[in-house]
Amino acid sequence: MLKNLYSMKDKICLITGGSSGLGSYIAQGFLEAGAKRVYITARSEEKLTAKASELSKLSGGECIGITGDLSTLDGVNELASLIKKKESSLDVLVNNAGIGLGSPIKTMTSEDWDRTMNLNTKSPVFLTQALVEPLKNKSSLHEPSRVIFISSVAASIVVPSVLAYSSSKKVLEHLTSQLALALTDDFIRVNAIAPGRFYSEMTRRAWQDPEAESFKAELERIPAHRYGDLEDIAGVATMLCSRAGAYFHGEVLNLDGGYRLRH
Ligand SMILES: NC(=O)c1ccc[n+]([C@@H]2O[C@H](COP(=O)([O-])OP(=O)(O)OC[C@H]3O[C@@H](n4cnc5c(N)ncnc54)[C@H](OP(=O)(O)O)[C@@H]3O)[C@@H](O)[C@H]2O)c1
Repeated sequence: MLKNLYSMKDKICLITGGSSGLGSYIAQGFLEAGAKRVYITARSEEKLTAKASELSKLSGGECIGITGDLSTLDGVNELASLIKKKESSLDVLVNNAGIGLGSPIKTMTSEDWDRTMNLNTKSPVFLTQALVEPLKNKSSLHEPSRVIFISSVAASIVVPSVLAYSSSKKVLEHLTSQLALALTDDFIRVNAIAPGRFYSEMTRRAWQDPEAESFKAELERIPAHRYGDLEDIAGVATMLCSRAGAYFHGEVLNLDGGYRLRH
């Protein structure tokens, strides 16, 4: 039973922003758990194609890259149309693509605010809206489809240095419960994962020199004394999207090694 509980066998999944970092870790988890096809997206075609080809070699499943910019509604609609042309149904949508601009109130521009809100909040909502049909096509009481939002620990703590980012993620968490209820009769389960500090391009500046005093001090402050890694997020995302997580609905799972407890 346990093996099947965490299986992603035959599932068709879409993960935005999967050419690096958390999206690519989640894609790897889904494929290794048996997913049939995992679509990943990004703006940079070269990196995306290389990642899709690397991940396709891991299992029997296929990883397909779709290039596009999700910071505009045109980009969102283009992606949704392409998916609908290729697939009659979708089992999993992971809204992962995001940016983390520093934006303290005294220097933040309206462009910083809009860029952050557009990619981190507006696009996930409208991509989900555009994909409701394929998400509900095969879903049922016992095999619901899943939508995951990737939030951040920054939604739970006060971080004035990243005002727009933190606010964009807080909105996502509120949306998680709203959409869970709104889409419940379509058998679409909606949840969020709120990561703490993970190894990725977004955080590269902080960890690229493991000997730096600032990095060591940060590890000291994180209660788990380490950054999150591939297995941490792949494990939780796979749990949420397999039979094991089918009863989570409108939930935010904090995945931060206790980071928020010390803030
Ligand atoms: N790393 C952490 O510690 C951490 C902590 C909490 C939450 N998160 C969240 O996790 C998510 C993923 O971040 P990450 O750390 O994995 O960052 P990352 O390594 O920089 O990956 C971001 C991914 O999103 C894509 N992307 C960026 N802008 C895009 C756009 N306008 N349109 C389409 N794709 C775009 C990137 O590819 P291109 O640049 O080629 O487009 C890349 O594939 C974000 O929502 C972030 O807020 C991360």
